[in-house]
Amino acid sequence: MSNVAVIGSQWGDEGKGKIVDWLSSRADVVVRFQGGHNAGHTLVIDGKVYKLHLLPSGIVRPGKISVIGNGVVVDPWALLKEIETVREQGVEISPATLKLAENATLILPCHSAVDGAAESARGKGQIGTTKRGIGPAYEDKVARRGIRVCDLAEPDILKEKLERLVTHHNALLKGLGAEELDHEAIFKDLQDIAPEILSYADIVWKTLDDAQNTGKKILFEGAQGMMLDVDHGTYPFVTSSNICAAQAATGAGISPRHIGYVLGITKAYTTRVGAGPFPTEQENEVGEKLGTRGHEFGTTTGRKRRCGWFDAALVKQSIKTGGIDGIALTKLDVLDGFEEIKICTGYELNGEKIDYIPSGQQAQASLKPIYETFEGWSESTEGARSWADLPAGAVKYVKHIEELISAPVTLLSTSPEREDTILMQDPFSL
Ligand code: IMP
Repeated sequence: MSNVAVIGSQWGDEGKGKIVDWLSSRADVVVRFQGGHNAGHTLVIDGKVYKLHLLPSGIVRPGKISVIGNGVVVDPWALLKEIETVREQGVEISPATLKLAENATLILPCHSAVDGAAESARGKGQIGTTKRGIGPAYEDKVARRGIRVCDLAEPDILKEKLERLVTHHNALLKGLGAEELDHEAIFKDLQDIAPEILSYADIVWKTLDDAQNTGKKILFEGAQGMMLDVDHGTYPFVTSSNICAAQAATGAGISPRHIGYVLGITKAYTTRVGAGPFPTEQENEVGEKLGTRGHEFGTTTGRKRRCGWFDAALVKQSIKTGGIDGIALTKLDVLDGFEEIKICTGYELNGEKIDYIPSGQQAQASLKPIYETFEGWSESTEGARSWADLPAGAVKYVKHIEELISAPVTLLSTSPEREDTILMQDPFSL
């Protein structure tokens, strides 16, 4: 029996929350391994909506262990607030069910302040970050200035590190014309919440090793999507972490051999939040229709998502760089009733045909999609729970996607409801 990792294959917002929730019924442990509260995973269970940002989606299921791995950047105030909100919805959360890696890096007020000020300073070149401090916190981690969960247990070290960190950020804030911060005030605020945060602190690599050794099933829950990967995405319009399945090993402290089956969550069309290249974007009535029918507004920032046709070349590239074995296709019902549907199979760049997204920023911005036009279907696929419930046109579309991306559709989601899922193969048995 294998473990499963779930990652996004486009620009995020592929519907990972629902699939992870669905898979978590088959898992014992659910692990977040990258990103932070820039993520937004929506779960709909018996009509009740849960919006998670930092907590692993397994949290809503009784009896599961939820783990926030060392690869995640954690805003401790955001975490406590989310715990409170989810508790108010009737979910039990305790140190027995939630484990926070003691070596995870913290996001502090200086990070969100710098994130916001740096974005404003970029002017036209804005990335469109979530302004949650994700990038600056990862920068500090790599620069060895970061403050980690374990530092909260060592106040003398914390004070010293914090003073150095805030001095560094104040220089940046001053240069960017923003207000400077007081390290003593941050220290005091951190001390107030340290006992509660530390109650969840855990030696996560050991917990996962025990889980692995006792035959428990682990689900690794990715955030964002491969095109936002800091190495393999549309750099610099990316997030600051690796999204690929390999990150599940580093970001949790487990052997890459234990990652198991990698499921790539893939929307039946494409969306993007924030700036950057998007070859199949439809800034017309098609994009409007996709956005309205798909409710394409960000869970975290409420921003309107950019919408476009399915890009098979992009997903195929994500499959290779992300280490994806099979895909879960989501939101097929949004395409119901389209007379014709387009699928991008490659690009034209400077008069040449290519089947991949190049690395250069200018080259990425100049890609002209090459489309195949596909006949749509008039029947509804919404809520279908078996392959036989799907109209022939939709089955043809799914089969064609499989061919174009050279990977199987392992799972098909036909509404936000947990039960509206068609399973081709159980990823935990692969
Ligand atoms: P950051 O992660 O806040 O630094 O933002 C960098 C880029 O990633 C921006 O374009 C964001 O819109 C995008 N981004 C970050 N998190 C998500 C997500 O969960 N879904 C979709 N886009 C995201």
